Amino acid sequence: MTRFRRTLDSPYLIWLLLALPGADMMQGYFRGSFYYGELMHASGEMAARLLILALAVTPLRLLFPRSGWPLWLAQRRRYIGVAAFAYALLHAAVYAQRLGATAAISAAAREASMWTGWLGLAIMLPLALTSNNWSVYRMRKAWRLLHRLVYAAAMLTLAHWFLAAFDPVPGIAHFAVLGGLEGLRLWRARAARRAHAI
Ligand code: HEM
Repeated sequence: MTRFRRTLDSPYLIWLLLALPGADMMQGYFRGSFYYGELMHASGEMAARLLILALAVTPLRLLFPRSGWPLWLAQRRRYIGVAAFAYALLHAAVYAQRLGATAAISAAAREASMWTGWLGLAIMLPLALTSNNWSVYRMRKAWRLLHRLVYAAAMLTLAHWFLAAFDPVPGIAHFAVLGGLEGLRLWRARAARRAHAI
């Protein structure tokens, strides 16, 4: 195996790639060059994009069956999902720090723009905690069922993005791409079932 191949296959590379934007956001925030609204925007968007990417892996493999990169992504899908959760946690922590009082946070959480975000994060928590080989092995079928909740987390994220962001258009555009890819996956699966039945 060449050194390039080994570097590409190393889990450290993907962790580094996933962590770098977060490190940049945090240092900017603490040094004062990145203000609250910018950090909320960047962390929220990063969390949502990684969630979309984790969901898009299977349709991308169907779309580009001969390319190696969708398989590379598929083998690292769990890391991408965990990173989506970590960015969402950062996003929520910055918000909670800004609001300060628990009473203010729970009062705001009654609005649809906020409870959709909290519920999305709550759903992502068990998914992130069970994104490891041990859990896959121990939970077996239950693991697959639990991880289907990622679709609920994505729908809540879409609603939250639409309701909380100043401009809802980027949220709709991101999810339209995911919707198109998922539609393609379902269409291919149906075509394969029909061909099998003939
Ligand atoms: C956990 C509870 C959450 C809270 C309290 C929260 C809070 C907020 C707030 C206050 C905004 C508006 C930011 C602004 O424009 O000033 C926002 C926007 C956003 N949030 Fe959340 N959020 C939460 C969870 C999530 C989750 C789980 C995701 C994604 C997985 C997410 C993704 C986004 C995105 C994409 C935006 C739009 C960013 C923009 O375009 O400005 N949020 N959130």
